[in-house]
Parts: sequence; structure tokens; C-alpha cells
Amino acid sequence: MNIQVFASEARLDEACADLIEGLLRVKPRAVLGLATGGTPLGVYRRLIDDYRKGLVSFRHATTFNLDEYVGLPEDHPESYHAYMRRNLFDHIDLPPERAHLPNGNAADLEAECRRYDALIEEAGGIDLQLLGIGHNGHIGFNEPGPALVTGTHVVELAEETRRANARFFRSVDEVPRRAITMGVGTILKARTIALIAKGTDKADIVRRALEGPITTDCPASLLQTHPQLIVLLDRDAASKLSPAALGAAAPGGRTV
Ligand code: GLP
Repeated sequence: MNIQVFASEARLDEACADLIEGLLRVKPRAVLGLATGGTPLGVYRRLIDDYRKGLVSFRHATTFNLDEYVGLPEDHPESYHAYMRRNLFDHIDLPPERAHLPNGNAADLEAECRRYDALIEEAGGIDLQLLGIGHNGHIGFNEPGPALVTGTHVVELAEETRRANARFFRSVDEVPRRAITMGVGTILKARTIALIAKGTDKADIVRRALEGPITTDCPASLLQTHPQLIVLLDRDAASKLSPAALGAAAPGGRTV
């Protein structure tokens, strides 16, 4: 595990964008796993800026998003389809036919989950998966519980998650109750995972995820088993990590 702590959000965003751009430079046909939520917005802004400056191209890339709400029209401003178009896809040269998200309005959701996993396999698997973390330790929409599902599947969202995401809707009642998400197996198959977290409100869960026991009660703790995990944190999100975690677990990890 490589933990990097950044003095500012801007630095973190820059480093994360650099990771993605570095990969695209050596592998223009890279397959990227993308995330939504507030955390990656600065990374996407940075990618757009660098694309406009001619520093990066997504022309040959393929992307797979982690998740999508069930039953929210694709053109609803809070659907993850709309989020991705607004915050990244509409501003870069990624061919729309290679920008994939689960279809939360599919007539047969189970078939949609199988289709999504097959598509990821056909693309050769994910090279770099960008991940945020929910306050309860969810990754994608894999919620804590007695068991986790490996492949893409339909989930009931935890009330805590719906409340956290209510800030994007007019009220919590409008937040869908279900979502399609890549499973933890799908996520862990990515060759490299970049986990990003910002803010003091994430400090406790970051500590649990990286230093606590590996348990389905904290899905992000399974990331500890991944051989290529890069953790990018701002100082606030890193504030509860032990010095040992920051030092020993992080060859190359540092505060920048
Ligand atoms: C959402 C998304 C996750 C995201 C998480 C944290 O519900 N499904 O992919 O990582 O919650 O969101 P934020 O970055 O806004 O804190």
C-alpha cells in the first residue's frame, strides 16, 4: 500500500490526474474505472484542463463507472450518467461508445449486471480504478453487511448513504433506494486502485479501512489485500492514521 498525504486538495487532484495521464501516455488504450461523488470532481476538472492544453487524450481509452442508481432517468441531473457527462465526458475526446455505466433502467437488471461484467472482461479488465469512500466504508455502492457480492449486482442503499447523497437532491425521499454497483471482486480485479479521500469527516473511516480489520462491515478494508493500492489523502482525511501506517505502509508515501 502506498499512502500519499497532500497539503491541499489541489495537490491531491493534480497527483491523481497525473496518475491517470501517466497511464494514458504509456497505454493510450487503457481501461479506466471511474467514480462519482464529490471527491473526484477536482480530479476531473484537472483532466479537462490538461486535455484542453493538449497534455492528454482519451481518444483510445475505455471507461467503466462503478455504479448507477436504479430507476433514475439517465437525463436526471443526479443520475451518474448525467454527472459523468457534465463533469468529464462532455469536455474530453473520449468516444461516447467507450464510456460505460451500468444501465439502472434496464428491464432486466440481473441481465444488465451480467452484461456489464462481460463488457469489462471483454475490454481486458480495468487498468486503473479510481475510488472514493463512503462514510460507512462503502466502495462503489457495496454497503457494509454480513457478506459482500463479488460481481456487478443490484443493491439496496443504506439509509446513511441515502442521507449522505440527499445533498444532491431536493430531499432524501428523492434519493433512489436501489443502485447497480460493481462488486468488490470486480473492483479488486483492477490492476491498480487509486483510493482518494478528503476532509475530516472521512478521517475515521479512512483509518478503519486502512488500519482496521479486513471485514465486510467495512467494505473498503478489503482494499488492504490489493497488491497495487495507492491511497491519496488530504491532511484532514489522513489525520487519524497512525504514524506507523503513514510511515511503514508507504514506501514512497509522503506529505507533499
Ligand atoms: C457515493 C458513491 C461512491 C462514492 C461515495 C463517497 O455514494 N456511490 O462511489 O465514493 O459515495 O462520496 P463523496 O465523494 O461525495 O464523499
